[in-house]
Amino acid sequence: MNNSTVTHAKIKRTVIELVQGDITEQDVDAIVNAANNTLLGGGGVDGAIHRAAGPGLVAATKKLGGCATGDAKISGGYNLKARHVIHAVGPMYRVGDPNSPKLLASTYRRSLEVAAQNEVKTIAFAAISTGVYRYPLGESAKIALQTVCDFVSAKNSIKLVRFVLFTEEALAEFQGALDTMTRERDDLNYA
Ligand code: APR
Repeated sequence: MNNSTVTHAKIKRTVIELVQGDITEQDVDAIVNAANNTLLGGGGVDGAIHRAAGPGLVAATKKLGGCATGDAKISGGYNLKARHVIHAVGPMYRVGDPNSPKLLASTYRRSLEVAAQNEVKTIAFAAISTGVYRYPLGESAKIALQTVCDFVSAKNSIKLVRFVLFTEEALAEFQGALDTMTRERDDLNYA
């Protein structure tokens, strides 16, 4: 599956892209996996990334010692085009729990920090927590875009942040959140 329906926006020197596609096929420095606390693989995008990367990936993640919710750790990309996989653990969504948005924002922020520390210039995110962990897509999109915009506007090292949305619905929700955010922020504009 190739990427389709690309939307570009720009914030300072960073391009924000929305595409519908498969994250395992992305030719970027790092892809961000929606992992669980064990980092040993699972279903959804985690399973797809482990299948595409091959057995070297789980051998590497076994050495990472797990990961707390809201945090992220990095490994090589093995058979993927991406040189790195950033394993990020989002929260399970709980209705009305103020920790859910805080933890989701932390997951995106920590992924970007780990990326910047490893000289990652181009990064692709899956929509963390929006599958098995049941985070509503629209709410997750707002948090994801806000966190990315705040990070790149303060720190300019990442050139491209691509959100790879698996379904038309996910793309539409991210598109809606990006439309709102371009109206709300002076520093974010469609390119
Ligand atoms: N490329 C991009 N996005 C994908 C792909 C793919 N190949 N496959 C699935 N997705 C999307 C889903 O449609 C969803 O929007 O990734 C998003 C996240 O869904 P999940 O993979 O279910 O991740 P999450 O909700 O964070 O749950 C994490 O699932 O399998 C496990 O080990 C993982 O236990 C952890 C849990």
